[in-house]
Amino acid sequence: MKRNQARFAYNKVIKADKLQLACFASLHILANCNLLFMVALYTKENIVELSKVVPWGISLSEYKEIFSLSDSDLEKTILGCGDGPACFNAELSSTGGNVISVDPIYQFNSEQIRSRIDEVYPQVMDQVSKNKGDYVWRSIGSVEELGNVRMDAIKTFLSDYEKGRESGRYINASLPTLPFEDAKFELALCSHYLFLYSEHVNQEQHILSIRELCRVANEVRVYPLLSIGSNKQSLHLEPVVSDLNDIGVSVTLVPVEYEFQKGATEMLVAKCV
Ligand SMILES: C[S@@+](CC[C@H](N)C(=O)[O-])C[C@H]1O[C@@H](n2cnc3c(N)ncnc32)[C@H](O)[C@@H]1O
Repeated sequence: MKRNQARFAYNKVIKADKLQLACFASLHILANCNLLFMVALYTKENIVELSKVVPWGISLSEYKEIFSLSDSDLEKTILGCGDGPACFNAELSSTGGNVISVDPIYQFNSEQIRSRIDEVYPQVMDQVSKNKGDYVWRSIGSVEELGNVRMDAIKTFLSDYEKGRESGRYINASLPTLPFEDAKFELALCSHYLFLYSEHVNQEQHILSIRELCRVANEVRVYPLLSIGSNKQSLHLEPVVSDLNDIGVSVTLVPVEYEFQKGATEMLVAKCV
């Protein structure tokens, strides 16, 4: 029943999506970013301009804290949606994990992504320094350490990327339409895309995207629930929860250990079966 309703939304989206596909790229200072540059490109061919993309990555240990991932979670079949240049997939796969990442930036090759990173790194560091007060400097103690941690994660991602692309672990795809059959994954994770960019991704897209994640996975976890800029709860959160409840999906907001963007201390957990 739940899955059928999610599938209905999916079929509707496919038709709309052929006409207009939204691709987003961001300056992701993150683990969370308060100032991030988000570029929305609406194209017919799903072409993202790399000159507008600012790639920035986080690690497996941060994903573990963000999503409270237990050892048994890490043994599940996992979808990382909007993983960008995070090294979650590289690290987990190297220890035998079963994970596929999707992101529109995976249409670019490693050289293109690498040179873009070199270009934007000084910009990113400058912006973080100016907005230091928006973050909690606990596990990462300084702007300099943040830069080092992020660059290490990106290097790990890049060293795995071409191999992972060939084996189908990095797939160029965008919400709200994913190229997977129903219930392909046990767990879908979406970090720093939905809710964070509430001003750029509208309510309908949020609802369709989370339904789509529920179609392809038995459980969905999304973090953070705050909007970028305001650091307040996303305006889309309540409508999304209410929509999921309407189609019989149980939703809980669960506290997490992780906090870098001030106040981002909860994830959404949707049980889709
Ligand atoms: C801020 S980054 C987050 C990267 C990673 N998940 C993390 O937490 O470090 C947001 C990512 O969402 C991706 N993205 C943008 N639009 C998307 C869409 N429609 N579907 C899936 N991912 C998208 C961007 O390309 C970018 O890599």
